[in-house]
Amino acid sequence: MEQAEIGLIGLGVMGANLALNIAEKGNKIAVFNRTVEKTHEFFKDAGALKDKIIPCETIEDFVAAIRPPRPIIIMIKAGEAVDQQIEHLKPYLSSGDIMIDAGNANFRDTMARFDRLKDTELTFIGMGVSGGEEGARHGPSIMVGGTEASYKRVEKVLTSIAAKYDGDPCCAWLGENGAGHFVKTIHNGIEYADMQMIAEIYGVLRDGFGKTAGEMADVFGDWNKGRLNSYLIEITEKVLSAADPISGKPMVDMILDKAGQKGTGKWSVIESQQMGIPATAIEAAVAARSLSSMKGEREAAEKIFGLESASYPASYGPDLLKDLELALFAGKIGAYAQGFAVMSAASKEFDWSLPMPVIAKIWRAGCIIRSQFLDEITKAFTETPDAANLVVTPAFSDMLKESLPSLRRVVTAALAAGLPVPALASALTYFDSYRRGRGTANMIQAQRDFFGAHGFDRVDGADSHHGPWGSGAGAGA
Ligand code: 6PG
Repeated sequence: MEQAEIGLIGLGVMGANLALNIAEKGNKIAVFNRTVEKTHEFFKDAGALKDKIIPCETIEDFVAAIRPPRPIIIMIKAGEAVDQQIEHLKPYLSSGDIMIDAGNANFRDTMARFDRLKDTELTFIGMGVSGGEEGARHGPSIMVGGTEASYKRVEKVLTSIAAKYDGDPCCAWLGENGAGHFVKTIHNGIEYADMQMIAEIYGVLRDGFGKTAGEMADVFGDWNKGRLNSYLIEITEKVLSAADPISGKPMVDMILDKAGQKGTGKWSVIESQQMGIPATAIEAAVAARSLSSMKGEREAAEKIFGLESASYPASYGPDLLKDLELALFAGKIGAYAQGFAVMSAASKEFDWSLPMPVIAKIWRAGCIIRSQFLDEITKAFTETPDAANLVVTPAFSDMLKESLPSLRRVVTAALAAGLPVPALASALTYFDSYRRGRGTANMIQAQRDFFGAHGFDRVDGADSHHGPWGSGAGAGA
């Protein structure tokens, strides 16, 4: 029997869809699931793709069915289960075999797994896969980390199943060990910021102007035809258009305002803080989800304080809608600039040489943050590879100059009306701090020196590093 080109363990929703995608693109695949019935069911439902699938009941049969060196995708819940699966597989594998973790793993776990396999002849790939269920089935964006040689073994299969943008596969090898999972984590951090900013603008329309879901669907639908064109704006229109089958009301109005989170946003923030790179819009988005989950506390606080009575200081109409659109666009630039800055720092920190234009390129289709905008980022990083930050590239500085006044108007107006816009406001103050040559940290330095004699550098370069602070100085040393 012809051997499989690749194997896959874990026929949950994502695994099953990925396996069907692999088979559909003409690659023979062996599949295994801990519960055998699931394997049978999957095979029974595979229809015309059955002749590309080898269903296996035991790990021995599964491993034997794959052409060596064997690439094996592990698509199970992130965390300990992955380690257990690796240990279970190891005795059956031979030199050069590649275990591929395609879940949303923390890249630090991926690095540790990589290290643990160092003295064996086995290797590991940490593979970020974005696009949800639909993407897995018809074309995800794939971010690969591992040795370049191991990528070569799987490149053909992976590029065949990846989403395509103008014919280019949205799949690439991004660097050694944890590089793929790190980039996927930052993708998700940006996804959090993108979603939060959309939710904030939705809040201005709903709570500032009393717009209905249907009215807002039209607004987002219009924006999707312009510079904000993206998957997340597209689904926002669809979400706002959907009706609840039980009450008949707009579906979105029937959903509890408590957002879930599985960790990737938080990891993005932790890593950015570790490296000293500000990612304030992403931080604000993660914090907003945490605050959203404190529903009881928020309701109690509303009883004490009520809501701000001032109304949004502008009237509804085309000018306001243009401002909101441009504000969202400027905020988005801030969030992406931060995400890319974090990746750039990580690239040095972990010795990855992350290719920024390639990352932007493979995010143009397939993934959750896919958009036209990422094509502009691809071009900006290709033309200005050494730019310190996305916002100083010629194309993006022009876009920001055009959209920033709107972001400022929207943020100040929303704050005046008591409408929370934490991610948009963070993007704005990030930019206002970033473009200010003389900031206010001289005050921080003076205070540090006052209470702790921590020293400072002088603007004139003179060799005097402490202040003449007088009485009380050194109190906190
Ligand atoms: C993707 C998504 C996917 C998943 C997130 C959601 O790129 O396909 O990001 O990975 O939907 O894990 O994360 P939260 O549950 O944390 O929102």
